[in-house]
Amino acid sequence: MNDLSHQVFLSSAAAQTSAAVEIPYYQPVGNECALFELAYQRQLPLLIKGPTGCGKTRFVAHMAAKLARPLITVACHDDLTAADLVGRHLIGDGETLWSDGPLTRAVRQGGICYLDEIVEARKDTTVVLHPLTDDRRILPIERTGEELAAPKEFMLVVSYNPGYQNLLKNLKPSTRQRFLAIQFDYPNAELEQSILMKEAGIDLTLATRLVDIAQRFRQLKQHDLDEAASTRLLVYAANLIAAGCPVIEACAAALVEPLTDDLDTITALMEVVKLHFDSGKLSSKTP
Ligand SMILES: Nc1ncnc2c1ncn2[C@@H]1O[C@H](COP(=O)(O)OP(=O)(O)OP(=O)(O)O)[C@@H](O)[C@H]1O
Ligand SMILES: [Mg+2]
Repeated sequence: MNDLSHQVFLSSAAAQTSAAVEIPYYQPVGNECALFELAYQRQLPLLIKGPTGCGKTRFVAHMAAKLARPLITVACHDDLTAADLVGRHLIGDGETLWSDGPLTRAVRQGGICYLDEIVEARKDTTVVLHPLTDDRRILPIERTGEELAAPKEFMLVVSYNPGYQNLLKNLKPSTRQRFLAIQFDYPNAELEQSILMKEAGIDLTLATRLVDIAQRFRQLKQHDLDEAASTRLLVYAANLIAAGCPVIEACAAALVEPLTDDLDTITALMEVVKLHFDSGKLSSKTP
């Protein structure tokens, strides 16, 4: 691939007019694109697991654009109620009006509903997904008595980061087993380099060094760090450098400081950075 400049024309009724939509760039890492398409065709819901900044959200945005479906994203949190997802009555001007929540909107529009960090939502909230994610594919709206049948274009995608999880924050098996699941991780070195080159416009030499540093940091994860340096942080570092920031400063701000507050760990990580760049051969102004 890639679809960086590929355009798709929306033809669905929901899109009303034909509008050119750019497909967000996504570098496939395995068979995830094919699996997503099959899940969509067969009307199966999908769960994406993976560490922060590894491309989950980008992947869903890419696939939604590729399939020309509207994408409705909800960031889940522990105050999220079923009404926040499904909808509620609003009172205004002496009238009570029903207002669809994002899940209901997605079902009506035949869109892709993406529930990010699903484990954060309370269990009584996730139960509302059950009739929608088994073969019934219906959304009962208790408060209006309506029962919406999901059109074949509707798809539910949820994601979470298993690293943040504790025992209390796990999906019930009866929720979990309604989804196909894909495990994401950081891409291999070669793919990650090409992501940095595309996302920030840096050259291969710099991309290789940044990815090398991240890989070193990732080896330290079990020892000193809760979370490894993500592809997202690498893209930040690459962007800073592409904008003219000296490489060591860029790595400190984008790759080291976001990972930890522990001064000894920061010093150790900065040593790794300097080892990669102190040879001084790399210009700080990479195009
Ligand atoms: N495979 C990929 N192709 C293209 N860009 C990628 C890819 N993986 C990561 N990225 C880059 O990393 C950034 C972060 O990815 P994204 O926001 O999708 O992470 P995430 O897995 O959703 O993280 P979080 O769990 O924190 O929400 C993207 O904005 C993009 O620049
Ligand atoms: Mg995300």
